[in-house]
Amino acid sequence: MRIVILGAGDIGSTLGRKWARAGHTIAFGVRNPLSEQAQSLRAELGEQILIGSPAEALAESDVVLLAVPGSAVKELIAAHAQLLNHKIVIDATNQMVKGKTAATKQWQGQGALNSLSTLQTQAPDAQVYRAFNSYAWEAFAEPIYHGIQADLFYCGPEGDARAVVEQLIAEIGLRPVRLGGLEQIEVVDEILRLWGTLALIQDWGRDNVAFKVLTR
Ligand SMILES: NC(=O)c1ccc[n+]([C@@H]2O[C@H](COP(=O)([O-])OP(=O)(O)OC[C@H]3O[C@@H](n4cnc5c(N)ncnc54)[C@H](OP(=O)(O)O)[C@@H]3O)[C@@H](O)[C@H]2O)c1
Repeated sequence: MRIVILGAGDIGSTLGRKWARAGHTIAFGVRNPLSEQAQSLRAELGEQILIGSPAEALAESDVVLLAVPGSAVKELIAAHAQLLNHKIVIDATNQMVKGKTAATKQWQGQGALNSLSTLQTQAPDAQVYRAFNSYAWEAFAEPIYHGIQADLFYCGPEGDARAVVEQLIAEIGLRPVRLGGLEQIEVVDEILRLWGTLALIQDWGRDNVAFKVLTR
């Protein structure tokens, strides 16, 4: 697959690294392709990845992962709406800033954490999925906890694109658990609030919390 990752920070680089190793073609879109962060990714992953502007990265792609700070998402989607239309777009972004204090404050009475409404307005023909937003990047780097594989809750439409998204989740090392279509997006985002309550507010540790559904 040709995967575009908009944002090459903690979450974008963690997922991109694993998908590159799984054999996909990865293009990162950032504001400054010459930044230290971008260049160290280039040094690590070599010529098999492209790091350019969002427009350069989006030129040829099947799947797009949104992995920029929440404050940047709206403008980024509006500026590249045509290039997002008709593609699988996975929203991993959260409308919040990093850190425990900020998270605690922001979760109290705040609106949507996701950017679904912007995507549906600006790029109505994109196939949108909500995934990779509910754990810290550390869980994606190492998703096995005492020998147990973590589950990743996601939502989005049925169909061929669903299989693509499930494959991408599995390649990161988690078991995909679909909660339904996009009408379930707030349920996915409640998982982030639950994760943050334990990992950040109750101080269990951001690299120390993920979830598993038990069934019989
Ligand atoms: N960190 C986590 O553990 C985690 C987990 C799940 C979800 N998330 C979500 O994922 C998103 C990214 O978080 P992060 O921690 O990876 O952030 P980060 O480490 O600060 O990285 C942000 C990346 O986005 C790029 N960027 C910023 N503004 C941009 C713009 N306008 N256009 C294109 N690229 C832009 C930055 O590069 P330039 O400055 O060069 O543009 C950088 O590569 C956030 O919405 C966050 O809530 C994070």
